[in-house]
Amino acid sequence: MEFVSETPGQTASKQLQQPAGILGIGHAAPTRVVTNEQMEQLVETSAEWIESRTGIRERRLADENVCSSDLGLEAARQALSDARLRPDEIDLIIVATLTPDMLMPATACIIQEKLGARKAGAFDLAVACSGFVYALAVADQFVRTRAVRNVLVVGADTLSRVTNFQDRSTCVLFGDGAGAVVIGPVEEGSGILSFELGSDGSGGDLLIIPAGGGKKPGSVYELTRPECCIQMEGKPVYRFAVSAIGEAAVKALEKSGLTADEVTVFIPHQANLRIIEGAAKRLGVPMERVFVNVDRYGNTSNASIPIALWEARQEGRLKKGDVVVVVGFGGGLAWAAAVLRWS
Ligand code: UT7
Repeated sequence: MEFVSETPGQTASKQLQQPAGILGIGHAAPTRVVTNEQMEQLVETSAEWIESRTGIRERRLADENVCSSDLGLEAARQALSDARLRPDEIDLIIVATLTPDMLMPATACIIQEKLGARKAGAFDLAVACSGFVYALAVADQFVRTRAVRNVLVVGADTLSRVTNFQDRSTCVLFGDGAGAVVIGPVEEGSGILSFELGSDGSGGDLLIIPAGGGKKPGSVYELTRPECCIQMEGKPVYRFAVSAIGEAAVKALEKSGLTADEVTVFIPHQANLRIIEGAAKRLGVPMERVFVNVDRYGNTSNASIPIALWEARQEGRLKKGDVVVVVGFGGGLAWAAAVLRWS
C-alpha cells in the first residue's frame, strides 16, 4: 500500500481551511398542479404510459407572469430565514438555472436586488440540470478558502418556458420550481466533504435547446418555436444518466473516504424513477435510502435537488452526522456529485 505523506505546507494549508456546509434550506413550487390525466388532453399520451415509464404523476407549472427569479426569490427568503441570516449577511449569490429571466441581467442580480442583499456579489451558473451541484462546489471553494463567509445558492427553473407542448416525448417530463441553500462555515468533519464534476461535450446534441443563444438568436427563430425548446434523444440520455450518476457518486465517495454502505440518504437529480432505481442499484444503495419526489414535481432541472433536500429534511430524513450524496446530470452532457455530512 502506497503511503503519501503531506508536506508541512500542505498540512498548514488544510488547517487554514474552513469547512463549508448547508446552514439553511428553502423551496418554492408553483401552486398550479398539472396531472398526467390533464397531459392526456394536450398530446397523444396516457397517464399510465407517463407513470410507468417515468414515475411522474403530476408536475407544477408556473403562471405566465412567474419567472425563475420569482420562484428563486421565494426559496432564497426561506433559506435565509432557516439559516437565521439577514440578507446583508450574504456575501455571494449563485443562481443555477437554464431558464434565466433574461439573457441579461443575470437572474442572480435580480434576486440580489429583490432580496436586499446589498453586500453580495451575484452571478448565474449554467450547466443544465447539473448546475445546482456545480454551484455547491463553487460555493464550497469560496467558504473553504475563507474568501467569503456566506453564499446563497439557488437552483431555479421554469422549464415550461422552453417546453414544446406538442412534443409528447418531452413535455410530459418537465415541471417548474426552485430551491435554495445557504452555504457557510460549519464544524470540522461536517458539511461538504467532497465532490466530483464531469462533462462530455460530445453528447451535446442529445439534450439541446438549439435557438435563443448567439448561434440562432431567439428573435430570428421565434416562428419556428420548437427550436427554442428542449429537444432530447431520450434513450441515450437515459443510458448516460444511469451510468453517470453511479460513477460520479462512487468517485465523490472515494474522495471523502466513505463507501456506499455509509450513505444515509442518496438524492439524485429527479428526472425519471427508472433512472434513479437503476443508478441506486449500480451504486449498491437500497431504495429505502434513496429520496424520490419525481412523482409530484417531474423534472425541475436545477430545482430538483434543493427541493428534494428541503422535503427530505421536512420528513425528518436528514439528521446530524448523516452522510448525504447528491448527484446532478443532464445537458452538456455533464454531471456532478457531492458528499455531505449533515451538520
Ligand atoms: O434532466 C435531463 C435528463 N433527462 C432524462 O433523464 C430523460 C432520460 N430519458 C428518459 O427518461 C426516457 O428515455 C423517456 C422517459 C424520455 C422515454 O422512455 P423510453 O422507455 O426510453 O421510451 P422510448 O423513447 O423508447 O419510447 C418508447 C415508445 C415510442 O413509441 P414506438 O416508437 O415504440 O412506437 C415513443 O414514440 O413510447 C412512445 N412515446 C410515448 N408514448 C406515449 C414517447 N413519449 C410518449 C408519451 N406517451 N408521452
